[in-house]
Amino acid sequence: MTVDDALMHRLVALARQARAQAYAPYSRFSVGAALLDEQGRLHAGCNVENAAYPQGQCAEASALGALVLAGGRRILAAAVVGVADDPVSPCGGCRQRLREFAADDLPIWLADLAAIRARHTLGQLLPFSFGPRHLNP
Ligand code: THU
Repeated sequence: MTVDDALMHRLVALARQARAQAYAPYSRFSVGAALLDEQGRLHAGCNVENAAYPQGQCAEASALGALVLAGGRRILAAAVVGVADDPVSPCGGCRQRLREFAADDLPIWLADLAAIRARHTLGQLLPFSFGPRHLNP
């Protein structure tokens, strides 16, 4: 499946909508994420914080849960939306979460409310990664 500009913009728009639903009363840092699955469906998630701080969940993890719940098993494209001076990039843990269902060439667009700020591949963000094939060669 090719990810053309129109699809990229849909993905980013969905991540922006998801960000608007974030529950982030502690950090006040809202994040939205959207994922394209192998059936062409889009799934979104936002961060969900908790008074017990370590129990908070990142937007990417929420979106991944939605994808898996819907029966998705591959991620073909991802978008992350946050507002900061530098483009908001998936945390280390979320890079590994995405890795479970994606190849090194997974495109990840980083956007804010005004623009797409960066495009990376998962392989750039998480090189030489550990994955399912290490367990099932
Ligand atoms: N956060 C995400 O949801 N995704 C990221 O990629 C980076 C950080 C959340 C976690 C926490 O709720 C808030 O942003 C501040 O770290």
